[in-house]
Amino acid sequence: EAAVKGGFATFMDKEIHDQPQAVADTLLGRAGTDGRLQLDEMRIRESVLRTVDKIVVIACGTAAYAGHVAKYAIEHWCRIPVEVELAHEFRYRDPVVSEKTLVVAVSQSGETMDTIMAVRHAREQGAKVLAIVNTHGSTIARESDAVLYTHAGPEIAVASTKAFLAQITACYLLGLYLAQLRGNKFADEIAEDLAQLRAMPEKIQRVVDNEEHVRAVARSMKDEPTVLFLGRHVGFPVALEGALKLKELAYIHAEGFAAGELKHGPIALVEEGQPVFVIVPSPRGRDALHAKVISNIQEIRARGAHTMVIAEDGDEAVVPYADEIFRIPQTPTLLAPLVSVVPLQIFAAALATAKGLDVDQPRNLAKSVTVE
Ligand code: G6P
Repeated sequence: EAAVKGGFATFMDKEIHDQPQAVADTLLGRAGTDGRLQLDEMRIRESVLRTVDKIVVIACGTAAYAGHVAKYAIEHWCRIPVEVELAHEFRYRDPVVSEKTLVVAVSQSGETMDTIMAVRHAREQGAKVLAIVNTHGSTIARESDAVLYTHAGPEIAVASTKAFLAQITACYLLGLYLAQLRGNKFADEIAEDLAQLRAMPEKIQRVVDNEEHVRAVARSMKDEPTVLFLGRHVGFPVALEGALKLKELAYIHAEGFAAGELKHGPIALVEEGQPVFVIVPSPRGRDALHAKVISNIQEIRARGAHTMVIAEDGDEAVVPYADEIFRIPQTPTLLAPLVSVVPLQIFAAALATAKGLDVDQPRNLAKSVTVE
């Protein structure tokens, strides 16, 4: 077993370190250096993809957060409305889907029963289903109209890490493919976006290389009863995933919030010493997002929060308000989840290890939930 873990103490550690490769392999052969995007596996007719008027992402757990990231990217790039729904909610609602709806089912295993049932439900109503799955020949892959495989390799640890990054990457490819097909972007813009994507594995590697700082902070926090996570825009699903990882691995109460929602309730939770992770968007991005998040950090710090900030290299505006800073490389806003989630994965795994827990097989959880 030690050999299979590649010298790491746990599968999770190995899989966190596999992430640059998982993203690179998912891009391979698709994000061409010639600037064009090849998705030969898109077996849904181009005429159908051109007339799609709504996308609905269905998934469970971590895969659903990949869908949340996809919403921001695809709506921005393609101007197609994207809904993200937990598969078990989608199925038992009465969802409005038609032949013009593209349903995207995201799943590592391809065997999650809730997602399988939602795929069937969508197809019965005439929607086309594209699966983004990691496991070849799995049920969701077989039952969908087309499959865009993530190439993360086998994921053994119950809580998902590298499959998540690969799912986000596949969603970006889908968004850029639709933008290319539907003429939302010029060829040189697609080429630039693909170049940015191809730069991501090396950036993820840089974050993984800084793991010791994150681990040390995690060890010092092993007796914390609750940790909060704040993010805006694509940082919001990252906050949700950071909280989920901590619950799954370390059995610590954790909650993720949209930072803008703070003043509408969650700020009441903040008291002296409360640890709060804040995912800070790029200061080079648009829409004053960065300034808004800085003011959120000031608000919680003024109320005694212990602020743990994930911020870009060179972002000095965070320094006065951060008790800890975890640095990530400069990255276009929409692609940032691929780097900003990594410290949160490392944090959860290190904290669980410090508590003496089984990181690869947390209590009560299954890798693949094959019952409804
Ligand atoms: C389980 C796992 C999670 C995973 C979820 C969805 O709950 O513990 O890590 O995110 O299932 O699994 P899937 O295989 O559909 O991505």
